[in-house]
Amino acid sequence: MKGELLIKNVRLLDSRGEHGKADVLIGEGKILSLEGGDAASVLDAGGLMLTPGLCDPHAHLREPGQEVKEELATGLLAALRGGYTDVVCMPNTTPPVDTPEAVMALIEKARGLGYARLYPSAALTQGQEGKLLTEARLLKEAGAIMLTDDGRTNEDAGVLALGLAYAASWGLVVSVHAEDAGLRRGGVMNEGPLSYRLGLPGNPAAAEAARIARDLEIVRYVMPGAKAQKPSILLHVQHLSTRRGLELIRQARAEGLPVGAEVTPHHLTLTDEALESLDPIYKVAPPLRTQADIEALIAGLLEGSIDCIGTDHAPHTQAEKEQDLLRAPFGIANIEVAWPLLYTELVLKRGFPLPTLLERFTDGARRVLGLPLIRLETGAEASLMLFDPASERAVNPAEFASKARFSPWAGWKLQGWPVMTLVEGRVAWTHERLGVGA
Ligand code: DOR
Repeated sequence: MKGELLIKNVRLLDSRGEHGKADVLIGEGKILSLEGGDAASVLDAGGLMLTPGLCDPHAHLREPGQEVKEELATGLLAALRGGYTDVVCMPNTTPPVDTPEAVMALIEKARGLGYARLYPSAALTQGQEGKLLTEARLLKEAGAIMLTDDGRTNEDAGVLALGLAYAASWGLVVSVHAEDAGLRRGGVMNEGPLSYRLGLPGNPAAAEAARIARDLEIVRYVMPGAKAQKPSILLHVQHLSTRRGLELIRQARAEGLPVGAEVTPHHLTLTDEALESLDPIYKVAPPLRTQADIEALIAGLLEGSIDCIGTDHAPHTQAEKEQDLLRAPFGIANIEVAWPLLYTELVLKRGFPLPTLLERFTDGARRVLGLPLIRLETGAEASLMLFDPASERAVNPAEFASKARFSPWAGWKLQGWPVMTLVEGRVAWTHERLGVGA
């Protein structure tokens, strides 16, 4: 059997575990064999690890209208460099993505780039204003994978209830930025002893918990009608940041509600103590919380109450982020470091099981989105990440493909860096140190 690329000497890893060494033959967009064969190009991977490509259910790529912060070309290349083959972009753009035409334009543009595959989400309400619903069916037909007003909160419970009912009819997931606007007020960091001492407006954990509790009650309310559609996930809670929010989700899932949740790399690795520096690089919504919240979120990720890692990659310009803490925008750009960061901080330092972490970066996200799962076996789609589990490299934002060249993890020494990303059998990105030769 003749393939296009033979990657020799890889360690196979998917969410089921490690499957030993293999010589992976790739062609026609698929894995043709795990036992070698003839190929036009051959790469000796020297024991690097091959996995399914990562999937991000939550990234801000800023097109249309905010290309000064990021654009598809930079964001989707950054995604590839982070090991991602699949990315969902958020619709809080200028204008918000709330029409089928806008969804189709994004899909077409991303396809032309040939980087990571793009799955646009569309606004739940027109202009993300929280008042009038968008056209769920037409948006789905245009290719929208999810409806969300992320970047804003859904203040009108009745609008969200109706939106969930329509989304269920058309097989769409609704994802929510769960923060109660009244409780959050003008908070720029977690409310707690540090915010009191610094005299900064705090955003309490209760803002998240209260909103999640309300949204879960809305799911209970619409479920009798939505049941016929059998949604696996109807409501997806974005960027979970608190222990209390997790408890509510855990309870809802035990009841059998079709509710999903994600956690970000920053809410798993940074606490509100970072704000002692007053550096807006740490300003994010929801805010960085406490070590106790991190411990709870890691436990939730391990047990599966949290389905997946969502980056909430949120690029802004340097000038915007260099304003003072009260004025700077919320957001941390992280899509290029998410995998090595959590591989290092969770797997290597805390003994978190590697296959489980990979599951949360791949299958977990794909299940929420209704995308097919990728297994490392003959016949599988060859959308893959090759990563180096051993070499250590410090985070250097100057090297980012993202336009946001600053990072709260700058200088952190990480292992697990991706070195090659394949999309449907094509080498879409490769680190310069890897030569692919005949
Ligand atoms: O920190 C955040 N930044 N949280 C959000 O919900 C929005 C995002 C953005 O768009 O910058």
